[in-house]
Amino acid sequence: MPTPPPPAELVDLRSDTVTRPTPGMRQAMADAEVGDDVYGEDPSVNALEERVAALFGHEAALFVPSGTMGNQIGMRLVCEPGQEVLCDADAHVVTYEMGAAAAIFGISTRTVVSDGGRLDADQLIAQVRPKTDWHLTGTAAIAVENTHNRGGGLVQPLEELRKLRDWTRDAGVAVHLDGARIWNAHVASGVDLATYGGLADTASVCFSKGLGTPVGSVLVSSAERIAAARLWRKRLGGGMRQVGVLAAACSYALDHNLGRLAEDHEHAQLLAKRLGVDPASVQTNIVILDGVNAPVVAEGAKAQGVLVSQVSPRRIRLVTNLGVDRNAAERAADVLAALV
Ligand SMILES: Cc1ncc(COP(=O)(O)O)c(C=O)c1O
Repeated sequence: MPTPPPPAELVDLRSDTVTRPTPGMRQAMADAEVGDDVYGEDPSVNALEERVAALFGHEAALFVPSGTMGNQIGMRLVCEPGQEVLCDADAHVVTYEMGAAAAIFGISTRTVVSDGGRLDADQLIAQVRPKTDWHLTGTAAIAVENTHNRGGGLVQPLEELRKLRDWTRDAGVAVHLDGARIWNAHVASGVDLATYGGLADTASVCFSKGLGTPVGSVLVSSAERIAAARLWRKRLGGGMRQVGVLAAACSYALDHNLGRLAEDHEHAQLLAKRLGVDPASVQTNIVILDGVNAPVVAEGAKAQGVLVSQVSPRRIRLVTNLGVDRNAAERAADVLAALV
């Protein structure tokens, strides 16, 4: 039985993960050629991995079930147990991934408070501890999030990413990119995916956010690292079989849903303007409403068919997505404007 669509009048702005596969995507999934991917025999997965590796200018790629698995394996590839990964205090990898780096891999994480998630290369570089000093927990890697989720969809400045890459390359420190929404950064900034890929040693990119698939992330890196990643994925129970049905959805998303992220960004601008948020603070598909009575706004909006996320008692998050067209964005703006 197909899943019933949400009521036509419901506008779901809680996240860009709430989208449902469109009829075209479902058809692509139904038509997918499949094989056993643990044997490396799924043609749809192999094609997706090759395509994504090439897009980001890396040698190889691995299809994984989630962004969390992509991030955690990615960090493990560049950090040994007992070493540390340095990152922003609001990074997804330390906020929402259940302490996985420590719980699973024995990796220590150390955080730096940034200005709203914005990457400041010098600030991170100043915190790096040498791996060769036996008094110190050595910093093996720095994790960067682009766009930054808790930073309201902020696109990381290219010059900071470049500065970090140049310094870390010379210092023998790796960079991991949490690129769950790198597609939004690419569409908003016009910076090539290969340029972003070239600024990281390992990168995890998601298809189940703005690109609208039900499942799926891809980890890119060198061929040698991806061979090791394949073992880690299997150990973690992420080895999947005839999973081409999911990879086909991702390939479909690259063909059909990447360019349209610009619409999500326009709808976020519309919401910002209508709700008194500085449009310049909204770079992609996330709008943060600060200083509001979050439970009252969320409940009031829900009663009128508009779903939003409460990030804290005074903060609401709106995320435009594939399931929210112009009319729905206008309607959400009408409802929320009366509440905030
Ligand atoms: C920035 C960021 N990284 C990683 C993830 C993890 O993705 P998943 O939910 O597929 O594990 C998310 C999920 O929302 C995210 O926003």
